Amino acid sequence: MRKDFLPFTRPQVTEEDIRQVEAVLRSGWLTNGPRNVEFEEAVCKYVGNRSAVCLTSETAAMHLLTKIFDLKPGDEVITPSLTWVSMINMVALSGAVPVFAEVDRDTLMVTPETVAAKITPRTKLIVPVHYAGAPCDIDGIRKVAGAIPVVEDAAHALGASYKGRKIGGGDTTCLFSFHAIKNITTAEGGMVVSNDEKLISDFRRWKFHGIVVDAFDRENRGRAPQAEVSFPGFKYNLSDIQAALGASQLSRIDRINAKRRELAMLYRELLADIEEIKPLADPSGYDFEHAWHLFIVRVVSPKLDRDAFMKALKAENIGTGLHFRCAHLQKYYRETMGCRPGMLPATEFNSDHICSLPLFPDMTGDDVADVAAAIKKVLA
Ligand SMILES: Cc1ncc(COP(=O)(O)O)c(C=O)c1O
Repeated sequence: MRKDFLPFTRPQVTEEDIRQVEAVLRSGWLTNGPRNVEFEEAVCKYVGNRSAVCLTSETAAMHLLTKIFDLKPGDEVITPSLTWVSMINMVALSGAVPVFAEVDRDTLMVTPETVAAKITPRTKLIVPVHYAGAPCDIDGIRKVAGAIPVVEDAAHALGASYKGRKIGGGDTTCLFSFHAIKNITTAEGGMVVSNDEKLISDFRRWKFHGIVVDAFDRENRGRAPQAEVSFPGFKYNLSDIQAALGASQLSRIDRINAKRRELAMLYRELLADIEEIKPLADPSGYDFEHAWHLFIVRVVSPKLDRDAFMKALKAENIGTGLHFRCAHLQKYYRETMGCRPGMLPATEFNSDHICSLPLFPDMTGDDVADVAAAIKKVLA
């Protein structure tokens, strides 16, 4: 058994990251300012898109999305149930209805077919998720969406690519998360990236009290301090302390993702002969590059269920995660929407059987070998 605990994830913070944060702390400007602008421009350049806005989290971006799209009771938003609850909760808060599209049983992603099956005249928005770092079939989904807007949840997918273009690039609107476990982090933080300038300027106004001009604009861009509230907005601006950390991390994203890939390939090799452990499948039908945010397996042992498996691995000093428990069978959605088991068979099967194994850039091949050995031991 391992002597020290191997966590499911650990953020990589380098001396350079610390220097960049320290420079902000010494600069006299702490909240959103020049380092926000630098981080937004760097992400746009990296993914190949026009404009971006930093926010305090991706959930904040989703909240603003429900405002900008003016979601109202009766409107419908198609998204998976097998995802983190942020988008679903924000839709529910707006009074609109989250409509759950089924996922592919082995990639955990919605498909053009499962999305098409849920489109109605009330569908206002479609939010597919690029799961675990793999891209979903976004062209196919946009095709079935027709005129209905598609906004991509790319929380897991910074650095992933689809048909040769980076997720977040081209004529898309994508939401990213920089929460502490993501491929790059600002501790908490998010960003919307889009080629739609009007949408981006809406996000800017909604993120800061409904005022077009914020403190940085006034001090540094000579904009009028008399700017008024044009509508009541929120306060979701990211601090420069966080943006500096994000920009510093972004400068090595390709190295981070390459290391994640190397570890994931080793997992695939070492787990290949364990019948009770079924890793996710790669998407098929299009070229892609995986960002390897998570290494997810399904535990299908007649002797040990997923929860017991996670507990047994913990006793072996191996941490694991659960990404994610499906939303539609959680208390609020059972009680308010009448969701019942059997509605989404592939979603529910995976919700009961998935487990995320340790994967972070400072892990070693020996750590992966320890996880594989511990898995064999607990299954035996
Ligand atoms: C798929 C997905 N969407 C959205 C979010 C929300 O991101 P944030 O924590 O930045 O609000 C997460 C966070 O874990 C996520 O995994």
